[in-house]
Amino acid sequence: MDVIVAGSIIGGNLLNIEEVIKVSEENGVDWIHLDIMDGNFVPNITFGLQIVESIRKKTSLPIDIHLMVLNPEKYKEFAKFCEMITFHIEVTHFPIRIIELMKSVNSKVKVGIAVNPATNIDFLENLEGYIDNVLVMTVEPGFAGQKFIPNTLNKIEKVKKMTDLWKNKIFISVDGGINEENYKLVLGRGANYIVCASYLYNDYSKIKEKIQKIKNKN
Ligand code: DX5
Ligand code: ZN
Repeated sequence: MDVIVAGSIIGGNLLNIEEVIKVSEENGVDWIHLDIMDGNFVPNITFGLQIVESIRKKTSLPIDIHLMVLNPEKYKEFAKFCEMITFHIEVTHFPIRIIELMKSVNSKVKVGIAVNPATNIDFLENLEGYIDNVLVMTVEPGFAGQKFIPNTLNKIEKVKKMTDLWKNKIFISVDGGINEENYKLVLGRGANYIVCASYLYNDYSKIKEKIQKIKNKN
């Protein structure tokens, strides 16, 4: 599977989201990653449904929505405006019910499960055939610009091993603190979908170069 680079737009200038989308499109970002934070599961608040709908209208790039929220079932409408929607395992005992709810809103949407750095992934063995993405948080969720947590490398490798024999191929995403110093490490452990905010958007003039490097794994 080719490496995918997703731009988490909260790393850009949020007073001009249209520009962040435009530079993403022009510089080879594969997917737009939208962090939805509710001020409860995580301390921060980001975008609501209307903003997400407006972004959907502005781009033909695929959108992946990362729900950092309690009660993800209340956010099912977001599934209408994206190609992939991912919620956290820490907020539910009923992941299959939530997956089915998301698909009932948008039958084509891919669904993912996100895991915090200190969360176990044994549950994954029960979800073969249900999910398209495992998002390994490489920082505690809530903010862009935090430092990568190296212990998460083992988790990436575990996810890879656990899902390698699955019939459907899935994304193994990493999100948080990804930069020049660690992208090769996460790729080496099996990640195939790299989410970056600060590293990509701290300098719009270098986005293309950085994406190429990640994709070439060099
Ligand atoms: C963190 C978010 C990430 C964040 C990544 O809670 O889920 O998507 O935007 O930001 P960086 O790449 O700056 O760590
Ligand atoms: Zn995210």
